[in-house]
Order: sequence, then structure tokens, then C-alpha cells
Amino acid sequence: MVLHLEDVSLKREGKWILQHINWKINQGEHWVLFGLNGAGKTAILNLLNAYNFPTKGKITVLGMEFGKTYLGEKLRKQIGFVSSSIQEKFYPSDNAFEVVLSGAFASIGLYETPTDEMRKKAIALLEELGCHEYANRRYEALSQGERQRVQIARALMAEPSLLILDEPTNGLDFIAREKLLESIEKIAAKRNAPTIIYVTHHIEEILPVFNKTLLLKEGQVFAAGNTHEMLSSEQLSTYFDLPVHVSWQNNRALLSKIQTVSGTM
Ligand SMILES: Nc1ncnc2c1ncn2[C@@H]1O[C@H](COP(=O)(O)OP(=O)(O)OP(=O)(O)O)[C@@H](O)[C@H]1O
Ligand SMILES: [Mg+2]
Repeated sequence: MVLHLEDVSLKREGKWILQHINWKINQGEHWVLFGLNGAGKTAILNLLNAYNFPTKGKITVLGMEFGKTYLGEKLRKQIGFVSSSIQEKFYPSDNAFEVVLSGAFASIGLYETPTDEMRKKAIALLEELGCHEYANRRYEALSQGERQRVQIARALMAEPSLLILDEPTNGLDFIAREKLLESIEKIAAKRNAPTIIYVTHHIEEILPVFNKTLLLKEGQVFAAGNTHEMLSSEQLSTYFDLPVHVSWQNNRALLSKIQTVSGTM
């Protein structure tokens, strides 16, 4: 098992942000964590990274039970985490190549001397994600789409068992988004691919490779299971509390609102 959350709850400033979360991820599954703004998606990810600890419940990630095993460095190297909240911490003067290289040490900035092998690997990843052209450009100077690619390459440097992508298409235009999704699809299709958790609030960007979906609503699991069942018109209408229609094209879901007689929500 890759991940197991058992009755996990999280309280912050007197408010329950997450309540009774049960979630099991097995090897060979790729999951979407879907939720509206404020549903608690990032709160869950921060638990998985051991940045925060649950108020109640048990978390086991990659065979390590939180609270029982020393987690810090060991866990961080096995989990590749791509999130806009991390981006702000990068030294803007580092170039893309250095940012990717630092992923080998699960550190922000380069403090250790990379080996030739690490350098080769960083170059290969930059190529794989289509960032070789701007490998020497300062991270600060990169566009949002370019930064996301560099971040994913960085996350793959340590060959993680679990890759978490927190809204990776944020701020990307249609073309950049589709290109990034293509890269993610390639990563998922590779032999020895990491288990991927893709966090989003956009139905349209859920790739067919994500065979499982967890619908999170107001800090609770609304439903979890096979993506096609989770993304049915009926399920999502109840989830949104709004009549919606889901159509499928090339194995991807498209969401539209059903116009009610009065035309109001
Ligand atoms: N330290 C905190 N104290 C109080 N409330 C918090 C704290 N951290 C998060 N919250 C609240 O918990 C809820 C869930 O936040 P979270 O960031 O997990 O949402 P999200 O699903 O990631 O949303 P988005 O799609 O906007 O990123 C929000 O209402 C947020 O304001
Ligand atoms: Mg979030």
C-alpha cells in the first residue's frame, strides 16, 4: 500500500478543517484529489508531507506510520511534491538546472556537491520535460508554465515513489496546460512510474491515467472510487448542489451547468 489515512481529522484555530478522512491508495493506482476552493486539499497534502500532524487519526505513507518512524528527510526524498507554495521558497537567482539538481538532496538551494551522475540525470529530466532550452535561465525569469515543468523535473530527481502535484496547471494557458498534461501522462506511463496524486478543482484536466478519484467537500470525503463513477452527471450534481452535465471526449470529462428554467443558480 502506498498511502493509508484512517479516520484523520485536523483542527486549526478551533475549526475542524478535515473530518474523518479515510483514504487508501494501492500500488498501480493514480488518484485525483478533487475539491472546491477551501475544501481541504492542501491541508491533506500538508499532512502527507508531515508538515502538519493530524489532530486525530492515523497516517501511513509508504509503509511509514506517522509518529512511529522518523520521517523528515527519509520521507521527503520518497515524495515528490510540486506546489506553488514551495515555489516561493526557491532562490530566484538559481537557474533552472540548479533547481532541478537540488531535487536530488530534497533541499531548497544547492548545499551539497552534485555528482556527475546527478548532473546527467538533471539534464535528462530537463529534456524529458521539455525545459532544456531554458536550463541556464534564472528561475525568477521563467514563465509560470516553465516553472511548473522545472518543478516536476526537480520532484523526479530523487526518483520518488509518490509524486504529488498540487494544482500544477494554475495560471497556465490552454496550450501550456495541455502540454503539461501530456508530460504528466508520459511520466505516468513509464515503467517504475511513481504513484501520482493529482490535485485539482478542474474536471477538464483529469487525464484517463487517473483511474481513481476522491471527491473532497468541506473537509470530508464526499465519495471515492473509480474516476468514471465519481465524475458522473448525477454524482457531481449532488456534489456541487447544482445540476450539471458531464460529457466525455477522448476519455476526458467536460463539465457544463444545466440551465434551469429560471436561469438562476
Ligand atoms: N492554519 C489555519 N487556521 C485556520 N484555518 C485554516 C488554516 N489553514 C487552512 N485553513 C482553512 O482550511 C480550509 C481548507 O484550506 P485548504 O488550503 O486546504 O483548501 P484547498 O482545498 O487547498 O483550497 P484551494 O483550492 O483554494 O487551494 C480553508 O477554509 C482555510 O481557510
Ligand atoms: Mg490548495
